[in-house]
Amino acid sequence: MRPMRSERHGIGSGWSGPVVVAMLAMLAVGFAGACLPAAARGQAAEAAQAARDAAIRRWVRYPPVPARLSPQAELGRRLFFDTALSASGRMSCASCHDPARAYGPPDGRAVQPGGKDRLQSGMRAVPSLRYLDDTPLFSLHAFIPGSEDAEYEGPSGGFDQDGAAASRQQQAAGPLLDPSEMANASPAAVVAAVRDGAYAQQFAQVFGADVFRHPRQAFDDVGAALQAFQAEDPSFHPYTSKFDAVMSGHARFTPQELRGYALFNDPSKGNCAACHIDVPGPGGRPAAFTDYAYEALGVPRNPQIPANRNPHYYDMGLCGPKRHDLAKQTQYCGMFKTPTLRNVATRRVFFHNGYFHTLDAMMHFYVERDTDPRKWYPVVRGKVQKFDDLPPRYRANVDRSDAPMNRRPGDKPALDAREIADVIAFLKTLDDGYSDQAGGARSPGQHQRGSD
Ligand code: HEC
Ligand code: HEC
Repeated sequence: MRPMRSERHGIGSGWSGPVVVAMLAMLAVGFAGACLPAAARGQAAEAAQAARDAAIRRWVRYPPVPARLSPQAELGRRLFFDTALSASGRMSCASCHDPARAYGPPDGRAVQPGGKDRLQSGMRAVPSLRYLDDTPLFSLHAFIPGSEDAEYEGPSGGFDQDGAAASRQQQAAGPLLDPSEMANASPAAVVAAVRDGAYAQQFAQVFGADVFRHPRQAFDDVGAALQAFQAEDPSFHPYTSKFDAVMSGHARFTPQELRGYALFNDPSKGNCAACHIDVPGPGGRPAAFTDYAYEALGVPRNPQIPANRNPHYYDMGLCGPKRHDLAKQTQYCGMFKTPTLRNVATRRVFFHNGYFHTLDAMMHFYVERDTDPRKWYPVVRGKVQKFDDLPPRYRANVDRSDAPMNRRPGDKPALDAREIADVIAFLKTLDDGYSDQAGGARSPGQHQRGSD
């Protein structure tokens, strides 16, 4: 039996609950001070601010922005935006991973069209490509180092929502060759497009004059360049959200954002931080809002995905059918990787199958999945088909032990409508673009994001 998430790593790996509570208290002082006389309030607020700045600045180390990209990464940029690398001639990586939307999907379609004629459909919603840098290697039995013993984490890491790709270099082969994505006939076809394209010479400069004579190697080089672009270009990890500004002492949450932050962390309310970790990682690196682990949440089946017209087809994540090697490990059926929540408010599709289109609906699902299942799943002959996007024999894999998904029919949901609005206000602080430098101050002339 899988241990409960909350038992596994409480509120965040390597960070104890009391630290987060103390931090919440510090962040709250600015508002709590409001009931003191004006002079004392000023002093108290100043002292609190100083303490908070000192504490927080030590915790978060934003990576320095490189003066320039490496030649590989510069080449990767050209490849990323090049529509010649698709069979239709009309699709690049950026068609699905829109740089204007945190490299997430360009619109609200559950899955994006692709293929030779752009009439094929993908199987999964497009994830953001931001903040993937610290993704660990895939492991079925990951352990996270804790203060006493290493804690069991279960499957975690890897790229794609089923962790099937070991690196971003390897991952790139997926979309380039997938018949429902860029749909190139072979690695050699991709290499030929580069060889005949506008930056063939640049490619040969970076990877060697005879690179085009070895298509297999050249195809790997395409992946390496794409990986270098994603790893080096600051647009993939800007850390310019209000959350980052608050954490580095340059801004304060509004009262509503602060309430949302507390609910996000509260193990008996949102409990979101148990999986979407919101404290710095090893070495003080900024919070990733994921623990990279896998969970089955029982998201309803999405009829908008063409593949789902076949009643026998189920996308079961770790155990396939897209991923092959774990087909027999049926205890993992239904599990998908926990995504980062940074920039989540810029998305219009949520979860691996894009079933939800608003944060509000998605939040209601989290807290009412178990208290009111009829709201989410079809009812057949009076019986509610809970977790209908999994074959019945695997429905027991769905997480029922972690709040807010540990309730029973008729219970009060873990969050009410007002609390949901508070959590959403907090989630909006995770959008990049609040400041113009990593963890920095608000840029002049910008409007306050979120609402009170
Ligand atoms: C047709 C739309 C489409 C195109 C074009 C596309 N992708 Fe993706 N991308 C996706 C989808 C869908 C996923 C999720 C796949 C999965 O979970 O199996 C994804 C996943 C990824 C991931 C893994 C993200 C994670 O969370 O682990 C990376 C990295 C990535 N794509 C990079 C690229 C690159 C580089 C290109 C261009 C060579 C590209 N993509 C082209 C749709 C697309
Ligand atoms: C037990 C671990 C766990 C908890 C607790 C949890 N999540 Fe998640 N979250 C996940 C996993 C796993 C996924 C991906 C599931 C899928 O796609 O099928 C996910 C997906 C999401 C997404 C979709 C993001 C995207 O890019 O599509 C959002 C938004 C989200 N969670 C917010 C929250 C909030 C807010 C809370 C607290 C109310 C919360 N989560 C609690 C594990 C968790």
